[in-house]
Amino acid sequence: MDIKNLVSQMTLEEKAGLCSGKDFWHTKAVERLGVPSVMLSDGPHGLRKQAEAADHLGLNESVKAICFPAGCAMASSYDPDLIYEVGQTIGQECQAEDISVVLGPAACIKRSPLCGRNFEYFSEDPYLSTKMAAGHIKGVQSQNVGTSLKHYLLNNQEYRRMSSSSNADERTIREIYLASFEGAVKESKPWTVMCSYNKINGTYACENKKYLTDVLRNEWDFDGYVVSDWGAVNDRVASLIAGLELEMPASGGLNDAKIVEAVKSGALDEAVLDQAAERILTIVYRYLDNRKADAVFDYEADDALARKTAGECAVLLKNDGALPLAKGINAAFIGSFAKTPRYQGGGSSHINSYRVTGALEAAKDMAHITYAKGYDTEADVSDNTLIDEAVEAAKAADVAVIFAGLPDSFESEGYDRTHMRMPNCQNALISAVAAVAKKTVVVLHNGSPVEMPWVNEVDAVLEMYLGGEAVGGAAADILFGDVNPSGKLAETFPLRLEDNPSYLYYTGEKDVVEYREGVFVGYRYYDKKKMDVLFPFGHGLSYTTFEYSNLTLSTDSMKDTDTLTVSVDVTNTGSVAGKEAVQIYVQAPENEILIRSVKELRAFGKVSLEPGETKTLTFTLDKRAFAYWNTTLHDWHVLSGTYTILAAASSRDIRCQADVNVTSTVTVPQVFHLNNTIGDILADEKAAKVFEPILKGFSLGAPADDTKEGAVTEEMMDAMIANMPLRSLLSFSNGAITDTMLLELLEKVNA
Ligand code: BGC
Repeated sequence: MDIKNLVSQMTLEEKAGLCSGKDFWHTKAVERLGVPSVMLSDGPHGLRKQAEAADHLGLNESVKAICFPAGCAMASSYDPDLIYEVGQTIGQECQAEDISVVLGPAACIKRSPLCGRNFEYFSEDPYLSTKMAAGHIKGVQSQNVGTSLKHYLLNNQEYRRMSSSSNADERTIREIYLASFEGAVKESKPWTVMCSYNKINGTYACENKKYLTDVLRNEWDFDGYVVSDWGAVNDRVASLIAGLELEMPASGGLNDAKIVEAVKSGALDEAVLDQAAERILTIVYRYLDNRKADAVFDYEADDALARKTAGECAVLLKNDGALPLAKGINAAFIGSFAKTPRYQGGGSSHINSYRVTGALEAAKDMAHITYAKGYDTEADVSDNTLIDEAVEAAKAADVAVIFAGLPDSFESEGYDRTHMRMPNCQNALISAVAAVAKKTVVVLHNGSPVEMPWVNEVDAVLEMYLGGEAVGGAAADILFGDVNPSGKLAETFPLRLEDNPSYLYYTGEKDVVEYREGVFVGYRYYDKKKMDVLFPFGHGLSYTTFEYSNLTLSTDSMKDTDTLTVSVDVTNTGSVAGKEAVQIYVQAPENEILIRSVKELRAFGKVSLEPGETKTLTFTLDKRAFAYWNTTLHDWHVLSGTYTILAAASSRDIRCQADVNVTSTVTVPQVFHLNNTIGDILADEKAAKVFEPILKGFSLGAPADDTKEGAVTEEMMDAMIANMPLRSLLSFSNGAITDTMLLELLEKVNA
């Protein structure tokens, strides 16, 4: 299809019309020219195709589809190939349902555990998040169906999400928030990107040329179209100029008319409109030209994939030997989530699931199971009768397995949580049961971290997250040892909400949300502060054990333009087969000019090992693994020094380490002035040389004396002088140093 030619035949009104939806879910057709309308539908973890009444909050029913584990769970798999497979399956389902773009994945950073939509997001770490997003995108798009990477950018809370401004500094935006999108855009080329509701440093994301055009298109080579989040457009013409091509849903023609008017008045260059129409049509035809009209929606096979996936995502947080359970034992399954699990979140990602299986049903042939309800799903206050029944059931069994977590009302798109607690009735139930049961296992269904006041009272905790429609089957598989858990946390579980770095500022002051914790999000903060956490980032147990050895670096000295190959051997030292998610962190050297995280995740890989088996994992680290965002260069920069490469089982379980010396090939230009400190001058080789003649012998009052008690030592004198600005030499040199002298030397240094 010659898109340029097609657009050249369109009237101004037709082109403007193309830039907004026909209705809630479709693009507009241009019948005169044979351009059909195509449908977009929600994802991310399954298809929400609304055939009838439409809405963006998951209120009206959609067609039956498979609900896969939500982003919170998927990320815990640490397995981009697995999320690729899920994406591929969703892509096939889209082909079967004639959907051109499935909205997702969602790569917003989990800034606070309170964000109501954290269940859809992947991680507090941008590298893990962007890798998982890339896997999802590649999988879906392998079926010639588009994705929409969302919600771009700095949409990290639900509270006032359509009016608030997320205010962050350049380095924080680059290193944390943009980085979570960047890798996915560059690596997997999403067909569309969805621009978020909020403002970024005062400008609506939808009108933000810097991020929509300068960064996304010009720096990252994005070649699809940008679609607004549903209803996010503020000023249609301004957003078109900034780089937002498609407005969704339909604006009843109002905004189309504004575009036409703007072209006529000269406020909008028609070439901008032409380009937007071309970009939208390129994606429409990429779908239409590669249609797989004979695709089938294989519900049974896809449900089985949902079960397998949920099993790979689950994180065994604690296990004092209670798990796995022996088949055939007497088990009390307690809690209403055992029957009807909470397996997905509320809002636009809500799927009309094909089949939901609870663990009670799934495990019925694995053991002798009694059931006690324990609590009412939406209740907060305890019902003592339910607790008493649960206690009796627990006493009579070999093990009590309590299914607990967060009810729908506790977390959803559209609002944030106000605390990190589970319902009181569930906490009370767990303590009461743990007090009498021989063994107590807690299985959790939640989209975001919770406080666990009972953690020391129970024997095991299995985090299933919102694991999709087959989560009950997956939980049974793990509980009874058919599947060995291999998920690891993609976020920190703090001991309490107040420990979280964004605590003081979340959710801002009305519409002003300051990201004052900067780059110290999640483990970057807890590590720097050496804080205890409930469960650290990257943590997850297995029914077997793994040993790490032979960490090898391809060199011990490199330039920042070189790549480093890192390899490590991992051995399964236990008696059952298992998978291990190996994490590679880079620890930067301490230095004076940059406040930096202790370590950052720069690579990871998941390996499957039989008992006794050893495999070597290999990773490649490039400049970005050592770099920070330099706000003078407005670019990534590496500080020369010795970096430590850590091979780890979690962010707090480092198994091997090795050093590499990295030399920067880029000098940050520095212009010296009278207010630079003498320390700055001395730290720069050239400046130190130029200023040597006047600095040599300069002292403050009496000369330093290292021999006399109470006198100023040389070291003290140097420290004091280092903190003085150059200009102060005028005040303290008794006229020996003049401003002409200083200016001349500065000119020489800056030349
Ligand atoms: C959500 C998006 C979603 C869209 C369409 C919005 O409210 O933020 O994630 O894709 O609605 O349902």
